[in-house]
Amino acid sequence: MLHIELKQIRVTFPQPEGGELLAVDRFDLQVQRGEFVTIVGPSGCGKSTLLSVVDGLVRSSSGQVHVEGMLVTGPGPDRALVFQEFALLPWRTVEGNIGLGLELQHKLSSRRIKELVLHYINMVGLQGFERHYPYQLSGGMRQRVGIARALAVNPEILLMDEPFAALDAQTREIMSVELLRIWEQDKKTVLFITHSIDESVYLADRVVVMSSRPGRVKEIIQVGLPRPRGLAIKDAPEFVRLRRHIWDLLEEEVRRQVDGKEDRA
Ligand SMILES: Nc1ncnc2c1ncn2[C@@H]1O[C@H](COP(=O)(O)OP(=O)(O)OP(=O)(O)O)[C@@H](O)[C@H]1O
Ligand SMILES: [Mg+2]
Repeated sequence: MLHIELKQIRVTFPQPEGGELLAVDRFDLQVQRGEFVTIVGPSGCGKSTLLSVVDGLVRSSSGQVHVEGMLVTGPGPDRALVFQEFALLPWRTVEGNIGLGLELQHKLSSRRIKELVLHYINMVGLQGFERHYPYQLSGGMRQRVGIARALAVNPEILLMDEPFAALDAQTREIMSVELLRIWEQDKKTVLFITHSIDESVYLADRVVVMSSRPGRVKEIIQVGLPRPRGLAIKDAPEFVRLRRHIWDLLEEEVRRQVDGKEDRA
């Protein structure tokens, strides 16, 4: 069932020196309910901008986003955004941070919020750290708090903008395994931006490769690898083939970008 539809999205930003910068152009994408879609593309190609448009924080200059057939005009409780910087409140404990979204909704009793918070603490494996403050946690644990906070409001759509970028390589791999484990439980629709080609293939049902700015869809790659997936799948010939293919597509785009800059110089 169709969940998110982006139609001919175009985003421009006014420039300090006047004129406009075309960040995203003619971007089309259809995402099915429960699908895990990853997005890769050269730096500055408009990935974060695109995610903000789906979230409703940024308005497209033309084109529309529909979620379940409804036009997106602003942020809503059906979508949760997880950033690289995870934006935890330093004066709130792990519990306090995870419960924040629920408290702001003013819909549930504090007892019910407490129950839900505990459920998500268990889900992301932070038992025993409920009363810790962000500064007492490792980067990976902070990231788990950010993910639990997003999950706690039970959004239908998770929008993740390089959530693992600040982590070391090992923690990052473990977090991607964890994320898939959590996703397997209730199959939310996920749009996940990453610079890691490995991560993009490992997580996804489909990988969207974007062109250099203005960001368009360069190619959409179906990932037919079986689920549930373990890290060993990265040695499978099909995984290696997909990684190579995406690498080639990105290299072409990055070269185009670099050559373009040289032309102007
Ligand atoms: N609020 C804004 N105002 C003006 N320009 C912006 C704004 N947000 C993004 N841009 C510009 O739009 C383009 C795309 O930026 P965006 O952050 O979406 O890229 P990205 O693909 O997420 O890059 P990265 O991989 O480095 O995170 C860039 O040229 C950026 O300078
Ligand atoms: Mg970005």
